[in-house]
Formats: sequence, C-alpha cells, structure tokens
Amino acid sequence: MILIIDFGSQFNQLIARRTRECGVYCIIEPPTISVARIRELNPKGIILSGGPASIYEKQSPRAEAAIFELGIPVLGICYGMHFMADSLGGEVKQARKREYGFAELRIQKSDGLFTNIPNESQVWMSHGDSIAKLPPGFEVIAATDNTPVAAMADIQRRFYALQFHPEVAHTLKGTQMLRNFLFEVCGCQRNWTMKAFAKEAVAEIRQRVADRKVILGLSGGVDSSVTALLIHQAIGQQLTCIFVDNGLLRKNEAAKLKKTFHEHLKINIRHVNASKQFLKALAGVTDPEKKRKIIGKVFMDVFEAEAKKIKGAEFLAQGTLYPDIIESRSAFGGPTSVIKSHHNVGGLPKRMKLKLIEPLQYLFKDEVRKLGAQIGLDPDLIWRQPFPGPGLAIRILGAVTEKRLNVLREVDAVLLEEIKTAGYYRKLWQSFAVLLPIKSVGIMGDSRTYEDIVAIRAVTSKDAMTADWAKLPHQLLGRISNRIINEVRGVNRVVYDISSKPPSTIEWE
Ligand code: XMP
Repeated sequence: MILIIDFGSQFNQLIARRTRECGVYCIIEPPTISVARIRELNPKGIILSGGPASIYEKQSPRAEAAIFELGIPVLGICYGMHFMADSLGGEVKQARKREYGFAELRIQKSDGLFTNIPNESQVWMSHGDSIAKLPPGFEVIAATDNTPVAAMADIQRRFYALQFHPEVAHTLKGTQMLRNFLFEVCGCQRNWTMKAFAKEAVAEIRQRVADRKVILGLSGGVDSSVTALLIHQAIGQQLTCIFVDNGLLRKNEAAKLKKTFHEHLKINIRHVNASKQFLKALAGVTDPEKKRKIIGKVFMDVFEAEAKKIKGAEFLAQGTLYPDIIESRSAFGGPTSVIKSHHNVGGLPKRMKLKLIEPLQYLFKDEVRKLGAQIGLDPDLIWRQPFPGPGLAIRILGAVTEKRLNVLREVDAVLLEEIKTAGYYRKLWQSFAVLLPIKSVGIMGDSRTYEDIVAIRAVTSKDAMTADWAKLPHQLLGRISNRIINEVRGVNRVVYDISSKPPSTIEWE
C-alpha cells in the first residue's frame, strides 16, 4: 500500500487514480495523520501531494517531520517537495517568476525515479516557490530552464522530490515516473485488482453483518446497484432494497430496474410508488433549489416510512465513493463528514439508529464500474450515464406537471434511442433533453402551431467538475430533431446546447 498525504492539491485524486491504475492500492490521508498510525498502516511508500500554500507561511499545513525517520521511501510533489526540503534542512523561497505550464525537463541522474525516461521530456509546472538550498544529503537529479532544482533526491534514504506534477497527463512521462517510484524505489507489487477487492469486501460484509438485516436505497445508478449486488452476494436475503419511484424517472426506468433486480438477480426489493406524493408537493414550484429541497424531504419521509416496516434492520448501506469522502474533509485535516448531502438519506442513519455500511468508500468511479463487471452486474447498468436524484423535475424548467413529465419522457426516450444506435451513449458523460418554459411558433401541414421547445444537452466529461459540449455529428442531431418533432405531440422546435462547464452547468437547473 502507498500512503498519499493530502496537502490540498486539486490533483491529489489523480495521484491516487494513477497509482491504482498501476495495480497498487493507496489511500489519501490528511497531514494530521500521526506517525503511529502510519506505522500501523505500514505503507511501502509515502507520496506528499502538492497544495496551494507556501511552506514559509505560518498557517501552512505540515505533517509530522518524523515521517522521514520511518525508513520508508518518500516522493514529494510540488508543495510536498517544499515540505520535504524545509523539514530536512533545505530552504524554500519565492521563485523570481511564477511558473505555470509546460517546461522541458533535463535529467541529470537517471536511476531510480527516472529509469527508462528520456533525458529530455515535457513536464507540467504550477508553482510560485522553489528550492533555494538543497537539504544535506540531497542532489539535483533534473532541471528546467527556469527551475534549477526541478527534481532532487537523497538516493540512499530513498527520498525523491519533483517540482512539477507527474500525475497530470501534460507531463508526458509522468506515469512512468510514478511507476518507477512504486516498483523500482518502493518495491510494490501489482496486486490491487477488483477480483481481490470483491472477495475481501464480501467476506468483510459477511463478518460484520452476521445474521442481521441490511436496508439499502436503490436508485438504479451504478453506485447503488453495485453496492446492492455486492451485499447480496455476501448476505443474500438479509438485504432488502427500497426503490422509491418519485414519478420523476425516465420512461420504463422503474419497470426495468424491478426486472433486473427482482427477476434476474433475485434480490429482495420493495418498490414504493410515491409519484403522487412527489407531484403534489411540487405543484406550482418553479425555483430549482426549492424543487431539490422538496424532493429531498419527501424522499426521506417515504424512505423512512418504508424502512420502518422492515423489522429488525440494523444497517443502512450506501454507495458512497472515495471522492465523496476526500472532498468532504478539508485539506488541512479537519474532521471528516462522510455523507454526501444529495444522497438524500443523509440524516437517516442517526434518526433510525442504523449503522452505515459503505463498501465502495475507498473506490473511484472507474473502479466501481470494473467491480460491477467483476461481480456480474448487467453492462447496461454499469454504463448508465449519471442521472440526478431530483430526476426530470430539474429538466422541466418551470412547474412540474404530469403532462409535462410525459412530454419530456417521450422526448428523452427518442433521444437516448438515437444516441445509443449511433454508438455515442458510452462516449458521452451525459445526454438528455430539457423542456423549456417558453413556446414558439411553427408550421405543421397547413397550420400554424404554438408549442413547446426542447433543448438537447450532450456533454463529455471525466468527473462532472468540468464538461465540454459534445460535437455530435450534424446528421445525428438532424435525426434526433426530426424524430422528436414528428413523434412527440406538443413539441415543434429542438435546439442544441453548445455551452461548456464552466461557466454553464451540465443541468439547466
Ligand atoms: P451540474 O449541473 O452542477 O451537475 O454541472 C454536475 C453533475 O451532478 C448531477 N446533479 C445532481 N445529482 N442531485 C444529484 O443526485 C442533484 O440535485 C444534482 N444536480 C446536478 C448532474 O446530473 C451532473 O452529473
């Protein structure tokens, strides 16, 4: 295992993902982690992440300097490099020029970290400070035009540090450098696989739950589906899933979900049709945040009422992922709060005195998909595009009514069918339709129409933090528009959203 100490860099999750892609398990911990705890964890190596602070500022985050006395290899990146230098007797100063972007790295010593890396290669820099004096025992192992100490090492103690970011794709040989650190320097083994993870997780759940009962809120998204299947493999019928149909789902979604989970996987599932309750609470509401709050509250009420019917349940399972946990604690090591607010059941464990089970809490999304495939989840569910909890309610601008929901459902079904047929579904992060609160004039046959407009939104993204509008072929867009206008009554115009995030968001509300 590799321990990553998080100094607050926006790239620290990337370091973790790259490490795991190399087949090595790693965890991210705040700088407040104690040396005693690190000894317990017994990592093969430590990576000190970058971060926005300057090491010479009073409030800058620090780990215990004793981490350098454990005899474990350490790799410092950017701020992590500065922390290493400062802790070991070197000096860090504000650089004459802030450096941001590409630089040409010239390697001066190529064993260890730089094994099999060409003498010159492109790296990516983002820093205002740099090393002014090496700590005793260190030597420069690479430089760039602006940064004389672009990389330093104390090879004997196996300490390495980089001023640039090896984890970003712009550093062309970055992954190779990380690989060298893991395998050449730390002697890690490539043993992090989803097969091994599934086996361990199932055993762990079985042991923890024993003969008791677990409930789980199933949404049909990949996270809750994988959680359900994993727990089912561990404890079978002791798991009951609650699926709340809020009436804001896509066409046939509820039926499909019931079929997969109940008929194919033989998982206990309680289907609560609460559409009327949701629609009643939403009547006349147009403000997006109000819609979300109402939907969240009704969901809690419905879920709790149903959960209470399952006598003797002691655990609540959730599909919380590792990024939720990392993002919900501060870079400076504050207390962690592990429940994502839009998970909806946030307050429930406490209210109902349930213990949480979160088997995916150390996994990233791509790993959850691999795990899903490993444990035999239907590929259609594994590759489902994300769908927001408030569902179609935030894709109908203005008030939500049964009639407008039906229009949007039909439009959405046509859109998805075309996107899937054209082979674009998995290439897109999300693709959906939005029903606008305005009407426009059209002409059909011999008469004028005055009907609804829908906007099509299709984006590519890696994590929903940023997104690009998808450059779908004009022919495909044409087919989608034709079919929607011909097949869905009440719509006479289709527009395509060509805005990226930021400054726009993915959803319209
Ligand atoms: P935005 O619109 O903020 O969306 O760019 C980013 C991602 O989050 C999803 N999203 C939500 N998911 N409840 C959810 O469960 C919500 O209230 C919500 N709002 C947005 C959105 O679909 C996208 O994937």
